[in-house]
Amino acid sequence: MKTALTGIKPSGVPHLGNYLGMIRPALALTASYQCLYFIADYHALTTLHDGAALRANTAALAATWLALGLDVNAPEGALLYRQSDVPEVMELAWILSCFTSKGLLDRAHAYKDALAQNRDITAAVYTYPVLMAADILAFGADVVPVGRDQKQHLEMCRDIAVRFNHVYRDLGDLLVVPEPLIREDVETIPGLDGRKMSKSYGNTIPMFLPAAQLRKLVMRIQTDSTPVAEPKDPDAAAVFQLYRQVVGREQAAPLAERLRAGGTGWAAAKEALAEALEAAWAEPRARYEAWRQDAAGLEAVLRRGGERARALAAPRLRAIRRAVGTGV
Ligand code: TRP
Repeated sequence: MKTALTGIKPSGVPHLGNYLGMIRPALALTASYQCLYFIADYHALTTLHDGAALRANTAALAATWLALGLDVNAPEGALLYRQSDVPEVMELAWILSCFTSKGLLDRAHAYKDALAQNRDITAAVYTYPVLMAADILAFGADVVPVGRDQKQHLEMCRDIAVRFNHVYRDLGDLLVVPEPLIREDVETIPGLDGRKMSKSYGNTIPMFLPAAQLRKLVMRIQTDSTPVAEPKDPDAAAVFQLYRQVVGREQAAPLAERLRAGGTGWAAAKEALAEALEAAWAEPRARYEAWRQDAAGLEAVLRRGGERARALAAPRLRAIRRAVGTGV
């Protein structure tokens, strides 16, 4: 079975954008791939320097995956682990950095954006793509489901793997060059203000809010002031875009028609979205709350995932160490 691997940074509370863009499609892959899903806590550390917050976000993310039904119990089931529980990844990151040209990292969008905004740039912001390559290459992942914003990171990972394989070509291909799995049908997920939903814009809809709060937040989604009676363009409105992503294009068609015809206000669209989210999340929310009450159980799941992950990475790391000359 082929391997699918992806990571999410625990840099905030999981939100609707994470769900639609990453988590839901990743859950769909579990039927046909051996899935390795991890919490990229060392990546979050590049920007989050609050230990208690990082730990809390990590627990929230783990509980979210489990609440949504990620099956980690079957022998062939998915792996859910913390990046920091797999030291092989960090070790590989150093090795790979010795095969990564500075020029490649100079071209990274995230780094260039930080430069352009005059932000304080740490070594970690600069070498972020190397750690990400190690996340993937340590496990020989075949496919990596990611959002479009991660496309360049995946290309860098492939470049690094090809370079490494070339240097040690006499030993055969030691690293698997992964394929990105970018679902072109997942559009940019708008946030409350219509811009891309992102923690940094403060416009997110967190996933497991109590029902009343969730509804209140949905009512805050910005809409234009077209009167109820007038025809509206559903596709231009964040509230309808979100609704369509949640229920699917077909199920969303009747509401689109009503909006286009006039006589239906944005409030009705918000109501529909709030109901759709409640339908999707009511049960997972209860499971989420149960996991949050069970810190020891959650920790046991992560620890077991970490052990399984290490068992997968260790033989590959041994071969890599042998190749570069640091192991016997
Ligand atoms: N950089 C990714 C993001 O910000 C998270 C991530 C870290 C990741 N390591 C990864 C994604 C490895 C896929 C594979 O979303």
